[in-house]
Amino acid sequence: MDRVAILYLRTDVTWRVMSEDTFMDQERHHRSTIPLTPPRRREILQRIELWNRTFTMTYFEYRQNIKDIAELNRSHICNIDLVVRNRHSVSHVKTSEAIFIPVDDDDWFRPDIVSTLLHNSNSETDLISWRDAIYCPTRYRKNQNGEREIIFPRGLSEHGFATNAYAITAKGLDRFSPEDQAMMLDRHGTVLKTFRACQPCFSHIILEEPQSITHKSPASITKLQPISSQTELLDQMRTISREDEPESICMPWAKPYIRQAQQLNRELINGLRVNLPETPVQLQRCPAKQQPQGIAPRTRLMNEIIRRKSYRSYLEIGCGNNQHFSNIDAVRKIGVDPRQGGTHRMSSDDFFATNREIFDLVFIDGLHLDEQVTRDIHNSLSVLKSNGLILVHDCLPQSREQQERIRTTGSWMGDVWKAIVRLRQRHDLDVAVLKDCCGIGAILPRSNSNLLETIPELTWDVFVGERDHLLRILNPDEFFQFIQNNEPAATH
Ligand SMILES: C[S@@+](CC[C@H](N)C(=O)[O-])C[C@H]1O[C@@H](n2cnc3c(N)ncnc32)[C@H](O)[C@@H]1O
Repeated sequence: MDRVAILYLRTDVTWRVMSEDTFMDQERHHRSTIPLTPPRRREILQRIELWNRTFTMTYFEYRQNIKDIAELNRSHICNIDLVVRNRHSVSHVKTSEAIFIPVDDDDWFRPDIVSTLLHNSNSETDLISWRDAIYCPTRYRKNQNGEREIIFPRGLSEHGFATNAYAITAKGLDRFSPEDQAMMLDRHGTVLKTFRACQPCFSHIILEEPQSITHKSPASITKLQPISSQTELLDQMRTISREDEPESICMPWAKPYIRQAQQLNRELINGLRVNLPETPVQLQRCPAKQQPQGIAPRTRLMNEIIRRKSYRSYLEIGCGNNQHFSNIDAVRKIGVDPRQGGTHRMSSDDFFATNREIFDLVFIDGLHLDEQVTRDIHNSLSVLKSNGLILVHDCLPQSREQQERIRTTGSWMGDVWKAIVRLRQRHDLDVAVLKDCCGIGAILPRSNSNLLETIPELTWDVFVGERDHLLRILNPDEFFQFIQNNEPAATH
């Protein structure tokens, strides 16, 4: 029997007749990135309202137009046997030879994806995944030839799929209960984890060549969510209204859809409502139930730095429950965390692979392992403004256990401190550590005013004996002087 290729439409929303309530219902159903607490719900609705006050093309009209572009793309996929729009139909259409390709409103696929999947799989296959790409009209990146690229292929993640970059066979689905089958089609982020947890031996084929592109339109909730004023919204829209063509499109089959998206964005900008207020109206961020303890000292410290240095843009790596992130007073805030909080649900490595923004202040508080922190610092330096600052949390462990690489303690700092010690040898960076707030390392891109000549073997006993010297530990006054001035700070 021939295999049957089925497009499974995870969302099939008719945006034209959408209301705020029906929108919330479907977001609740498909929430893959943002937990919809009541305050968050209000926050999203406020942003839709902000959109509608700013443009004559309403938010839902715009989403419908984005969907139309995706539908055009889907109509060009060759050899699709069936399109399923209703999750309850899955069991009816599932034959033993079926292969399901989950799709969202913002996914574009290679026209020859079906033959590639069939060619690369066999009757034993449970799951096929591929590198995907992102089309993000608000930023470009340079490729190896120095050309601007408008589509960025992404790496393969060990942990899950960033978007619907997978297909599941009927055999794969049959490994799960009927209730879980719909989940395996609906929740791309957890598919791999669920397979690994429940079916440790499954046949997974990985394709290097990207087969799909996710169109991160400025209207996607993850892009809209950090926007808190009309000025910010317009800034974002102005960047996408450029008429210029990128020199290079690494996936030429996507060109017609890019053209359409660009045209749509121009129409949006042309329909700008007049009489924007002089002073942008600041929206409330949702009051975080995550902040029972009020403003933490590290948050006060960073807000003071932002105020004194007139910083505007802020990046946080590792946001936890947003206790800190929600209270940071920066105009532009990006938070990256693969599990919770922030604005980008991904690892720092994945974020830096596609990010094109630059920042005044970067706070690194993600995975507390020397090599990851070293990589986060290195990547942050490449997106740091020339007068910017990188802060690194948890540089001063209080016990041997707290700095072990395997977490055994409630409060865990890992071996972040080792990354800081090594940086102290760089001539082009000035590095010191605040003795409070679990040790906040500060890294400034300027010449090193206190070079560490040699580094002993980095063991816990050496840390205990030499930490002041190795890490250049400063009290708060000295710390502020260190980051404020271009003058070398006295060492504590
Ligand atoms: C200590 S919490 C962050 C606390 C937060 N910065 C604050 O000040 O309240 C560490 C966070 O890092 C996240 N994390 C772990 N690995 C990460 C990675 N590779 N990239 C980004 N974040 C990561 C975890 O999910 C966790 O939420």
